[in-house]
Amino acid sequence: MSELRFDNQTVVVTGAGGGLGKAYATFFASRGANVVVNDLGGSFKGEGTSNKAADVVVEEIKAAGGKAVANYDSVENGEKIIETAIQAFGRVDILLNNAGILRDVSFKNMKDADWDLIMKVHVKGAYKCARAAWPYFRKQKYGRVINTASAAGLFGGFGQANYAAAKLAQVGFTETLAKEGLKYNILVNVIAPIAASRMTETVMPPDVLESLKPDWVVPLVAVLVHSSNEIETGSIFEVGGGHVAKIRWERAKGALLKTDSTLTPGAILKRWKDVNDFSEPEHPQGTANFMEKLEEGLKLSSNDPGETLDFK
Ligand code: NAI
Repeated sequence: MSELRFDNQTVVVTGAGGGLGKAYATFFASRGANVVVNDLGGSFKGEGTSNKAADVVVEEIKAAGGKAVANYDSVENGEKIIETAIQAFGRVDILLNNAGILRDVSFKNMKDADWDLIMKVHVKGAYKCARAAWPYFRKQKYGRVINTASAAGLFGGFGQANYAAAKLAQVGFTETLAKEGLKYNILVNVIAPIAASRMTETVMPPDVLESLKPDWVVPLVAVLVHSSNEIETGSIFEVGGGHVAKIRWERAKGALLKTDSTLTPGAILKRWKDVNDFSEPEHPQGTANFMEKLEEGLKLSSNDPGETLDFK
């Protein structure tokens, strides 16, 4: 049986000094790719720097016969990371935006510094790396990007207002790059992983962590960034511990109301059940679906309140 290979391709993995990033880097190197192992080498709260984190992974890859170079820049300087790929290997094919930190604190106690640092690493970092790789991807009509969201971004997480906001930003970023990249064969997807790492080891029990090896996130990423994936783009995947599933938006039946003076708060309250009715869900793909609704709305003759409204 042949395996998915990445020979002659260059993969840039940000935050590859540990956790998920290290698992990606070693895997892609073992499948023939040239790997840029980027890591700033700070603490999980984003303090300090060290070359060691990236160096150790590069040594490990080389010892196993793979090809890798280290880069120690912060993802906020994405252009330097992509430059390392071009200088060392002459090209960049795959970008895994993985680097991340946590600054958990209750919203009441959140400081601007907690907010700003999280936005800088996750949002600006993903932007800067993708922005620097984009011209290469367009020119060669080939590129694959994975951005990293989180369950906290999709559902919220106590003490994680900053991190959750930055992680959901990855979804809008991904969906937009997917649209702009499609005609250049640049496919962009986003994952919400769960894995044992220094980020999660203090918040999960050891037996749970045991089943959540970063290695169980890697295969999905490999599938999405391989050249055999020619269509999957702009999608969100939940992945970890052997579970892999796509996530999408769902719309309730909803209420369609005529846009005249009868569209009052009371008219909405009257239809509250329909606004929340998920018994026959729709799965909107974009604003086009919304426009269809509006066209239906134009055909309405009036908001028939049925019985008298309780409120206006
Ligand atoms: P980790 O802390 O083991 O790895 C993150 C790496 O990013 C570290 O090696 C760190 O030095 C590096 N890094 C941090 N800031 C950087 C910067 N400015 N520039 C370059 N490198 C930087 O954590 P883990 O768990 O492997 O996380 C990887 C990604 O997955 C992160 O984006 C995280 O938010 C996300 N994630 C992880 C989950 C999990 O269950 N482990 C859950 C949801 C999301």
